[in-house]
Amino acid sequence: MFEEAQYFAPVATRDDGTIEVHLGAGHPGFADPVYRARRNAIAALAVGYVPGTPIPTAEYTAQEHEVWALVSRELSLKHHKYATVEYLAATERLGLPAERIPQLQEVGDLLEPLTGFRYIPAAGLVPLRDFYGVLADGLFHSTQYIRHHSTPLYTPEPDVIHEVIGHANALASDRYSRLYRLAGEAARRVESSEALEFVSKVFWFTMEFGVMTDQGELRAYGAGILSSYGEIEEFRGMDIRPLDVAVMGTTHYDITKYQDVLFRAESLKHLEDVVGEFWATCDDESIARLIAEVPQG
Ligand SMILES: [Fe+2]
Repeated sequence: MFEEAQYFAPVATRDDGTIEVHLGAGHPGFADPVYRARRNAIAALAVGYVPGTPIPTAEYTAQEHEVWALVSRELSLKHHKYATVEYLAATERLGLPAERIPQLQEVGDLLEPLTGFRYIPAAGLVPLRDFYGVLADGLFHSTQYIRHHSTPLYTPEPDVIHEVIGHANALASDRYSRLYRLAGEAARRVESSEALEFVSKVFWFTMEFGVMTDQGELRAYGAGILSSYGEIEEFRGMDIRPLDVAVMGTTHYDITKYQDVLFRAESLKHLEDVVGEFWATCDDESIARLIAEVPQG
């Protein structure tokens, strides 16, 4: 079982056809019936979404827009210190609104002229092959809800702040978006679930949690770090290892904690040469060879 499943609140269809998101008892919004009703309504938008049509508008409260404005402001300050120059330039280029949550339709409308990417709504966990596969088509599955207002700087699940501030800013870069597409092509090419999981782990340790030498210091380009108020202050103190596809593809990770093992590229060119090249050429056999060469345990 791939562990990313526990990352998302499960979404179920009730007997009457309505959609219910199961928040765990420890979720900050668990005891808030108004928030839970909104989560159900937002999940229903994604379940009912027809590809190729405009993305339905999610209703957010003024309080939720304030959460976005606060987190957006705080992260922006940190990005100038901790994000790669490529990511910062892409952020400038995309020009996301700072004071309100953008609709996913709007995010795609901003991105498409830059790199061809569009967003599509996801209610919760998307099967790996679909999530990664459609990256090859320039499509990015995204949750649409925002974290509970009581904990603006924390979310147990990937919310619209992670999906848009973390990923859309990266997807506005020609070079990062090309890497996302190559990951998608790799996911489409491989056949075994073992090879697919390997491809997704390499993505996890790069486009989600990647760091690189940039401006003579360690900076982040991974969406998971750049959208996390806490993690962005911690990554330089983590266990930083050299970029190695075989090791990344076989390293276990726990999504419920801060990511404590990170892999450093020496430059964007290095990332493209090693990881881009891997995704561009890998298949089931080459991945089986990489798995065989890594000492297990
Ligand atoms: Fe992500």
